[in-house]
Amino acid sequence: MARVVIVSNRVSLPKRGAKAGGLAVALGEALERSGGLWFGWSGEVVDGAVPPPRTTTARGLTTVTVALNRQDYEEYYNGYSNSTLWPLFHYRLGLLEVSRRNTEGYLRVNASFAAALAPLLRPDDIVWVHDYHLIPLGEELRRRGVGNRIGFFLHTPFPVPELLVALPGHRRLVRALTAYDLVGFQTTGDVKAFLGYMVGEGGGEADAQGRVRAYGCRIRAAAFPVGIDTAAFAALAAAMADGPESRRLKASLRGRRLVLGVERLDYSKGLPQRFEAVERLLEAHPDLARQWEFMQIAAPSREDVARYRSLRRALEAAAGRINGRFAEFDWPPVRYINKGVDRATLAGFYRAACVGLVTPLRDGMNLVAKEYVAAQDPDDPGVLVLSRFAGAACELDAALVVNPYDADEVADALADALTMAREERIERWRAMMAVLEANTAATWRDSFLAALAEGYGPAARTNAASVSASVSSSERGIPLGAAGP
Ligand code: F6P
Repeated sequence: MARVVIVSNRVSLPKRGAKAGGLAVALGEALERSGGLWFGWSGEVVDGAVPPPRTTTARGLTTVTVALNRQDYEEYYNGYSNSTLWPLFHYRLGLLEVSRRNTEGYLRVNASFAAALAPLLRPDDIVWVHDYHLIPLGEELRRRGVGNRIGFFLHTPFPVPELLVALPGHRRLVRALTAYDLVGFQTTGDVKAFLGYMVGEGGGEADAQGRVRAYGCRIRAAAFPVGIDTAAFAALAAAMADGPESRRLKASLRGRRLVLGVERLDYSKGLPQRFEAVERLLEAHPDLARQWEFMQIAAPSREDVARYRSLRRALEAAAGRINGRFAEFDWPPVRYINKGVDRATLAGFYRAACVGLVTPLRDGMNLVAKEYVAAQDPDDPGVLVLSRFAGAACELDAALVVNPYDADEVADALADALTMAREERIERWRAMMAVLEANTAATWRDSFLAALAEGYGPAARTNAASVSASVSSSERGIPLGAAGP
C-alpha cells in the first residue's frame, strides 16, 4: 500500500482524549493505515531564523511541522491567503486586498514548504495537498523533480471566472493547479467554475468527466463533498445530551426553544445578516415572542486581520441593539458568546437546539450544518435552516433552504421551523440523515484517494516535465501579482 502524505496549512491530528473533528480523524486513519505523514505549519510564529522542521511520531502517526517567521506569517497567512484569496474565493470582491509583497510571501512559503517536504518523499508516496494556502505547492514539488501522484483538494468555494479574473496574476495562480494529477472541489458548481476558467481563460479543453487539457498538462477535476463521521457524531451528541453543560443550558432556557448558530467569527458566515433576520423575526412574529432564544457562538478567528476585528465590534453592537430593543427582564432574545466551545459540548448543544441556523453568504461545505443534523434526536429532531450558498445545501435540500441576504425570508423560515409539526421534522431529518450516512468523512477520503491513485491516464505522470516546460524561464520567479494581465 502506498504511503499517504497529507499537506495542509494547519496540521490537526486527533489528540489523545480530545473529540477530534471527523475530517482530522478520517485523514489520521489514512496516515495510520499507510504509515504516512502529515506536513504543515506548526502554528508557531518566530522572530528571526526559523528552526528546522520538527518531526513527531505518536501512535503510528507522524507529523512534520515548520514554524513561520513574522514576515511569512504576515505576507503568506494574514496577507495573501486570508486577505486576498479568502475574500475572493468567498465572492467578496469588495474586501479583496492586493499587494505584491503578500503575493511574493505566499510563493516564498510555498517554495520553502516544498523544499522541506521533497526530501522526505518516497517514490511511491501519494501526496494530498489541502486548501487555498498551498495552491502552488504541487508546482514547487514538480520543480524539485517530484514525479509522484499529487492531488489537491480545495475546502473553500472556487469562484466563477468572472470574479477570479479580478485577481492580478490569476493565470499564474490557476495554472499552478495543473501541476496536480487530480483537483478536488466541494461541489459540482465549483468544478464547473474551474472548468469554465480552464476553457474560457486558459484556452484548454474539458470533457464531461472533468478531464482537462490546458497549459500543456492533463489533469482531472471532480467534486468530492466533504462529509462527517456521522455515526460517531450522533453517538457523541446522544451521550452529551445529559452532560452537565447541556443540562445547564436547558435549565437556563426554562422551556423556551433554542435557535442555535455556531461558527468561527468570519465575514463569510453572514452573521450581521443573521442578526438582522433575528430582529426581523422579533418584529414580524410577536406571537412567538418569549417562546425562543437565539444563541450565537462565534469563536474568535484570524484576529490579526483588521476585517475580523471590525466584524467582532459590529456583532457586539448588533447583539446589544437587539436585546436593547426587545429584551424583557426575564427574556433576552439574543445570547452572544464570543469564544470557542469544545466539540463534545457543542454536540450536546446541537441536540438541545430546536433550530440550527446556518446562513453563510458563501461556504465551501459547512460541516456545522451536517453535524447539527447528525446530532438530533431521531424521535424529536430539530429543523435546519440553511443558506443556499453553503456547499452543504447541494446535499441537504430537505433543510429549510434560504437566501441569507433576505432577512424577511430567513425570519419566516425561522417562524416555520419553530412551529413545524413533529412528523414533518422527522421526515426532513430522515432524508438528510440518509445523505449523511451515505457520504461520510471516510467515503470522502477514500473516493478522493481512489481517484488520485487511478489518475488521468498514462500522461498524468508526465506532469513534472510538462509543468516545468509550460512555465517559461521569463515567468519563473515572477510574483503572481506581476504576471497577470
Ligand atoms: O475552511 C478553511 C480554513 O482555512 C481551514 O483550513 C481551517 O481549519 C479553518 O478555515 C480555520 O482557519 P485558520 O486556519 O485560518 O484558523
